[in-house]
Amino acid sequence: MTKKTIIITGGAGFIGSHVIRLFVNKYPEYKIINLDALTYAGNLENLKDITGAANYGFEKVNIVNAPEVNAVFAKHQPDGIIHLAAESHVDRSITSPLDFVYTNVVGTVNLLNAAKELWKDNYEGKCFHHVSTDEVYGALGTTGFFTEETKYDPHSPYSASKAASDHFVYAYADTYGLPIVLTNCSNNYGPNHFPEKLIPLMIHNVINNKPLPVYGDGKYTRDWLYVIDHARAIDTVFHNGKKGEKYNVGGFNEWQNIDLVHLLCTQMDEKLGREPGTSAKLITFVKDRPGHDLRYAIDATKINTELGWSPSVTFEEGLSKTIDWYLQNTEWLEHVTNGSYQAYYESQYSNSI
Ligand code: NAD
Ligand code: TYD
Repeated sequence: MTKKTIIITGGAGFIGSHVIRLFVNKYPEYKIINLDALTYAGNLENLKDITGAANYGFEKVNIVNAPEVNAVFAKHQPDGIIHLAAESHVDRSITSPLDFVYTNVVGTVNLLNAAKELWKDNYEGKCFHHVSTDEVYGALGTTGFFTEETKYDPHSPYSASKAASDHFVYAYADTYGLPIVLTNCSNNYGPNHFPEKLIPLMIHNVINNKPLPVYGDGKYTRDWLYVIDHARAIDTVFHNGKKGEKYNVGGFNEWQNIDLVHLLCTQMDEKLGREPGTSAKLITFVKDRPGHDLRYAIDATKINTELGWSPSVTFEEGLSKTIDWYLQNTEWLEHVTNGSYQAYYESQYSNSI
């Protein structure tokens, strides 16, 4: 049994909370430190079931603040970093791009510097795992897939900031020999997803009988992966990925937005005991997102053949479990949609619905 200390950044967010839960439960011999600033997207309620675990600790730190980051690294002496902290919403990046530069670019470089400094005498057994997105590759037409060889071509301020952070991670490997791995994953969905993204926003609006805002013609296409499968992929690559390499992670599961929203409405009508077709009447086509990427689709052959990872649930199952979670966790939904969420929703949607 190897004793390891791992810092997981962004552990109070959507994906981070599932990664923390998996590591805390699966590796009792590890010490898992959650480093998170608790922005609007960070919520310790996401972790209430494991907060008391003996191998879990929390540090409230903003990764933009280098001295704070360095102090936490000096205190815990981590062997591994799994870096998820980020500003993650494309629509917010369109209105506030600089926030994305600070957290996603400057914050990532601060973490790379802290790891380089701490590990400089011996890189053996160390790993900096950077969690990134398929959006760095840009947009596909109606055919083809993103592979690990696809050239970066980000379009939104969000994807540009993630692409920049990926390049810094490679630069630290090339320049200083830092032991790194990257994962570039497609769209996630599942419990604890903040209701600014498509699926949880639609669930929240169906529950509240509010319009379901579909951007443009609804033909935009995304590849969806259940969040727990993403956490499993991160576990696999962190432990078994080749240093210096990247792995695409995806669900082999493409949906046009409009078809996905119809499936969600059908499942919700059934669960809520509503007449079939009731929720779909709420669908409202609204003004398109500027620079909207037409299609993302991941070729996840490398992680599948080299490391044996594949998704464990079908989309219909995963979506059904996700809706059940939101229907059973109304208090969580109320907490995260109080306060600043209302102002965000108003400014994002009031002109279009
Ligand atoms: P999220 O927005 O739900 O959570 C982000 C977390 O980071 C929050 O807990 C927040 O408090 C924290 N954070 C933000 N700024 C911080 C700062 N300056 N210092 C410290 N903590 C800070 O995001 P998510 O959807 O869970 O995404 C996690 C990671 O996975 C991101 O790096 C994102 O780019 C990547 N990713 C997300 C998806 C997706 O579909 N959501 C897909 C692929 C990759
Ligand atoms: P989103 O969940 O924001 O993820 P991303 O932009 O990172 O892929 O959006 C997923 C898709 O859903 C994208 O094509 C934009 C679209 N969308 C809507 O049609 N309406 C909405 O209210 C939102 C938030 C997204």
